[in-house]
Amino acid sequence: MKYTVVLPAAGSGKRMKANKNKLLLELFDKPIFIYTLEVFQRDPNCEAIWLAVKDDEQELIGNFVEKYGIYKVAGFAVGGAERQDSVRACLDMIPACDVVLVHDAARPFIDSDVISRLALEAGESGAAIAGVRVKDTIKKAEAGVITETVERDNLWIIQTPQAFDYSLIKRAATAASEAGFLGTDEAMLVERLGHPVKIIESNYENVKMTTPDDLIYGKAILESRRQ
Ligand code: C5P
Repeated sequence: MKYTVVLPAAGSGKRMKANKNKLLLELFDKPIFIYTLEVFQRDPNCEAIWLAVKDDEQELIGNFVEKYGIYKVAGFAVGGAERQDSVRACLDMIPACDVVLVHDAARPFIDSDVISRLALEAGESGAAIAGVRVKDTIKKAEAGVITETVERDNLWIIQTPQAFDYSLIKRAATAASEAGFLGTDEAMLVERLGHPVKIIESNYENVKMTTPDDLIYGKAILESRRQ
């Protein structure tokens, strides 16, 4: 299933404790976000890549895109204060298509098979998101005391990509913005319209580079893939 991908890349990365956009940090020889772009550049089903970037980083990011020959980048949108605003800015710009994938530029280890399954499912049922099963025991606590141990069989850790029928995600984003609803992922915007969202089982390597320890894990993943 062919798709267009939207990559929010306009965060600041405070939790990474870097003094610049964490996506510009290098894993070995390349900035984090270039690894992400290369996955989509290689995927024959990816028709176009749209990036949400900070206004004052567009030139720098554009230069990297050129340096690494990521010719599928079709355009840039100016990101907003929240991730949802950045995604929305891209959705407002992309030409109509069948399926749209939204993927954090900060998840460089996404597997191309997961991408294909997501795009296919979104083409069939309208909405599909990547997730992995919870491995640990999950408890709720109040004031430091456990109030509940949550049954984990039905619990999933949600990742990106999240894949949608183009008109569905456009409708969901418009409805959320009109209602002033802020979600932590795109699926929430679709869920609130009552549309079912399927889960596609992903893998634990699809980690979001968020805190400094993720960089150590990221390098280990790259090393294991080089062997
Ligand atoms: O901060 P976090 O890592 O959760 O952000 C996930 C992705 O969303 C990152 O790729 C980040 O660059 C992007 N983002 C954005 N605009 C924001 C906040 C985050 O494009 N306002």
